[in-house]
Amino acid sequence: MRREASGQPGSVTTFGIDVGGSGIKGAPVDVTTGELVRERERLPTPQPSTPDAVVAVVAELLREAEPGRVGLTLPSVVVDGTALTAANIDPSWVGTDVRALVQEATGREAVVVNDADAAGLAEVRFGAARDVDGTVLVVTLGTGIGSALFRDGALVPNTELGHLELHGHEAEHRASDAARKRDDLSWEQWAQRLDAYLTHLDLLLRPDLVVLGGGVSKKAEHWLHLLDVRPPLVPAGLKNDAGIVGAALLAG
Ligand code: BGC
Repeated sequence: MRREASGQPGSVTTFGIDVGGSGIKGAPVDVTTGELVRERERLPTPQPSTPDAVVAVVAELLREAEPGRVGLTLPSVVVDGTALTAANIDPSWVGTDVRALVQEATGREAVVVNDADAAGLAEVRFGAARDVDGTVLVVTLGTGIGSALFRDGALVPNTELGHLELHGHEAEHRASDAARKRDDLSWEQWAQRLDAYLTHLDLLLRPDLVVLGGGVSKKAEHWLHLLDVRPPLVPAGLKNDAGIVGAALLAG
């Protein structure tokens, strides 16, 4: 975290990096406004996406960044800087002390968080759930399904609700955006699956608001009106940058 010499007076800039299955995106973020200070840079996720290979890309994204802490997301349960699970990323992440690895590779202190938790935090602070109290659930629909649960703005981390069982399957294998593409579903067919999933989440948590994020939220006009569930639904406000912004917020 540092004062941004060239930014607005009082602004604080922190670097955020979002690690996904196909791309690793990063940018410096003004954590007082949630805005990117410069355009994000995106590099392909190495295959296999092992910790060393991914952290080498992280170091590359940080090469010209100002000194300071970095916020980093992973599609994993993350506790105290260590990844405990690895879905949609190389299995060798399980048990990796990511904080130590980033420190070693970049000399920087890192705050490491689950990707959906980061995106959710950005939505709660600056996006579609800004100033909403009560129970807010952010669901990211991408290769997998991520979840971030908030109560009066406070995050309950690592909820992993994409792995709930639905009709004998993991929900993310049926209702993610990747499942829509894989099974060549129409918007109506996909919405039916999503509706069943969101109904299940409602029975468990009774959220006051559900924010639907991930790349497909940019096309919400095709499918949002097809959903028929009790809680109010809104598409994410920050679109693709939410993970970067949330990571920076947590580190800043
Ligand atoms: C992972 C989560 C992640 C989500 C979205 C799931 O498969 O288990 O940790 O948040 O995908 O990337």
